[in-house]
Amino acid sequence: MRALVLLYLLHAVFGQVTKYSWYGPVQEVRAPDPALSSACLADQTSCGCCLMKKNINYMEMYFNQSIVEMKNQLMTAQTALNDMRASRSAFSVALNNQVFLTCIGPVNSDTVIIYKHVFLNLGNGYNVQTGVFTAPRSGVYSLAVTIYGNKANLASCASLQVNGIAVARLNDQIGQDPEDSNSAVAAVKLNAGDKVTMNLLKNCLICDDFNHFNTFTGFLLYATN
Ligand SMILES: *[C@@H]1O[C@H](CO)[C@@H](O)[C@H](O)[C@H]1NC(C)=O
Repeated sequence: MRALVLLYLLHAVFGQVTKYSWYGPVQEVRAPDPALSSACLADQTSCGCCLMKKNINYMEMYFNQSIVEMKNQLMTAQTALNDMRASRSAFSVALNNQVFLTCIGPVNSDTVIIYKHVFLNLGNGYNVQTGVFTAPRSGVYSLAVTIYGNKANLASCASLQVNGIAVARLNDQIGQDPEDSNSAVAAVKLNAGDKVTMNLLKNCLICDDFNHFNTFTGFLLYATN
């Protein structure tokens, strides 16, 4: 009996199957798999192993390719993020921070307003000595300005300029009260190195204190090349 079992197992290994019927054991030869090559028929055990190795190799190749692709995409994303962080630019300044209202003007000609009180100067684009904001890189910038003056018979007027060319003029010249104020908001496309200024215009004056009636604000909305 033991020999028979052993024989059965051996037969199974070599592709023969023993079935049992009422009439005793019947030998059956397994039908060859048409998909297998003749080499596989000759040595089925090592052929299966070979196919398995092939599949493992394909899988490894697939994983390797996926990892390379993922690494590339991660690097692209990191570069973009670093670029965004490096190009951050935002400034916001006010004329002064005095306890008492202090005025500049009236002036004889166009004069760059030097805002002395800095709220924010991210990227150091604004120069507190000259009053000039220099765009650190090309892009679309949002600019916002307010002016205020408080002297009888003296108007408040200024001009927001890019490289000396007016973008928006702020004007309050005619009125019954001494208080004059105005504001402007603009989105402009600047090239790296472009200079943005607020210019006090001829015969006009502005006044400020800790209330920050005069502000000059700009920030990079998004960078372009
Ligand atoms: C997959 O990458 C590993 C590590 O770089 C390498 O050893 C292996 O040969 C690669 N496998 C394939 C199938 O390219």
